[in-house]
Amino acid sequence: MKILHISDLHFPKKLSLFSLRGKAIVGYLSYRLRRKSKHPLVLVSALVEAISKLEYDALVISGDLTNVSHPSEFENAREILSPLLTSKTFIIPGNHDRYQKRAIGPNPLFEKTFGEWLGNSLDPKLYIRSKKIGGKLFIGWDSNFAIPRITANGYVGQEVIQKTLSLVKEPYVLVCHHPLWNPTSEIESKAHRMTNRGEVVEKLKSNPPLLYLHGHTHTNWVKLPGPSAPFAIVNSASSTRLSDRNHECGFHLIEIENSIQYRRFIYSEDKFIETNPIFYEESEGVI
Ligand SMILES: [Fe+2]
Ligand SMILES: [Fe+2]
Repeated sequence: MKILHISDLHFPKKLSLFSLRGKAIVGYLSYRLRRKSKHPLVLVSALVEAISKLEYDALVISGDLTNVSHPSEFENAREILSPLLTSKTFIIPGNHDRYQKRAIGPNPLFEKTFGEWLGNSLDPKLYIRSKKIGGKLFIGWDSNFAIPRITANGYVGQEVIQKTLSLVKEPYVLVCHHPLWNPTSEIESKAHRMTNRGEVVEKLKSNPPLLYLHGHTHTNWVKLPGPSAPFAIVNSASSTRLSDRNHECGFHLIEIENSIQYRRFIYSEDKFIETNPIFYEESEGVI
């Protein structure tokens, strides 16, 4: 089973300020000034082309397809991704896809746009999605919530964890936007992390996933299984960002057979090329 994992696509889309409300105005301006130039369009097309040429069984996208959850950003994301949206695709939302209440509401934009690739809901009240791809079970969680402030915290409810653990009876890959672990070498702000990740990791120990796939922090890593989290934690964010001194960007192709093999691809000059994954022991970071 080969899993291609991409994340934090933040597709560029020009928006009229008049079409924005509340925190989306500040969020959009900050994106235009600080982040837009880091996600050039040429990289987006190179990514789609690179993926189209690779052989894989499942394509996992772990959130942040948009910047401020604007309706035209969702349309744009779907259009760009259309060559890659197949029965092999599994998508979960990131905090930027749940930026404002209107992105959640009774008819959420994320679900409206990507409903076909979100798997089946395992509980009518909780966000627990499941999809079997090539015989392998993928479980998706939504760690995001719309808050009026400009923070990017995540949270996974106890009921979600318990229900998942009680329902899942076979090896599974868990996909969620926020990291469960952070390398000590990467500065992490308190306003950016999943607030209860210690609890999540502790509970997962009773039925650990084969892999935990996430994004949110825009630099790649693979945390190897350790005593606290006995499973690998893979960060493929951001797959559409230019790398720099503080951001090692790209995506992973993960092969699960008897053991797990990792390949990593990065954008260099005008195309994606293969390079070494960035591995960490659990002791090199914190939960
Ligand atoms: Fe992101
Ligand atoms: Fe994020």
